[in-house]
Amino acid sequence: MRGIVLAGGAGTRLRPVTGITSKQLLPVYNKPMVYYPLSVLMHAGIQDILIISSPKYIGAFQELLGDGHRIGLDLHYAVQQHPDGLADALRLGRDFIGGEQIALILGDNIFYGHQLPTLLQRERESLSGCTLFGYPVADPERYGIAELDKDGKIVSIKEKPEKPTSNLAVTGLYFYDNDAISMADELTPSPRGELEITDLNLNYVESCRARLVNLGRGSAWFDTGTHDSLLEAATFVQIIEKRQGIRIACIEEIAYRMGFIDAVQLSAIGDSLGPTSDYGQYILDLAAA
Ligand code: G1P
Repeated sequence: MRGIVLAGGAGTRLRPVTGITSKQLLPVYNKPMVYYPLSVLMHAGIQDILIISSPKYIGAFQELLGDGHRIGLDLHYAVQQHPDGLADALRLGRDFIGGEQIALILGDNIFYGHQLPTLLQRERESLSGCTLFGYPVADPERYGIAELDKDGKIVSIKEKPEKPTSNLAVTGLYFYDNDAISMADELTPSPRGELEITDLNLNYVESCRARLVNLGRGSAWFDTGTHDSLLEAATFVQIIEKRQGIRIACIEEIAYRMGFIDAVQLSAIGDSLGPTSDYGQYILDLAAA
């Protein structure tokens, strides 16, 4: 399976903080936002990852993350010339994906949960068609919303419904088989001018090849698209990290725990972050443990 992080868009809702930088490079507490979606793909065991961003900011992502070898990843980069919608990522990623399955994640989505790595690996191994990840929300009009029948089968998905028929948001993490590439090719722009991921997902729903996993109460999901949700996500991360003495979405730690790098490599990364960074110190402590 290959991963794609879509970190495009103009970040208009976050102006002026997105005036000179990409939304997905803004800090969420103590690390850049893109670390969070990257960590989700890593937890799923994915090491080949394509990062898509706008022409203006792709270089900044490259500068931050490089070729990924430092943390045992193989990172690739692609430019999205215009914010033409989420499904456009599959078109842009066609060559990178080849004949493989795909995990697409939105660069502003943050997931946290004790069982998440196990769940992701299980879903990856058993993927047939498409797997969506649902999360109950209090403000369903902001998201793609799924309606399920009594057996948990998806009946409908509506993008930002004015009158939502459920509170189950379809989060910005999607597992697809390789058919998604040709399906994305057939999509036409929605009234808001975008290739909608919901339309792609509906293709799978119509052919009874879509499955929805409800992440439920035991996990947290944030879409950091507004000032309030960005602050809430940062506060959440701060509270958990301080209380438990752990780091959420520390990509270096995940690389180590997943066996992508060893303790010597981890220690070198800690050194490179310098003695004044408590993030770096955390990595050094981990390497020495
Ligand atoms: C997008 C999707 C929506 C999904 C959401 C998750 O919305 O279109 O279906 O629920 O991401 O973050 P957007 O970020 O474009 O508002």
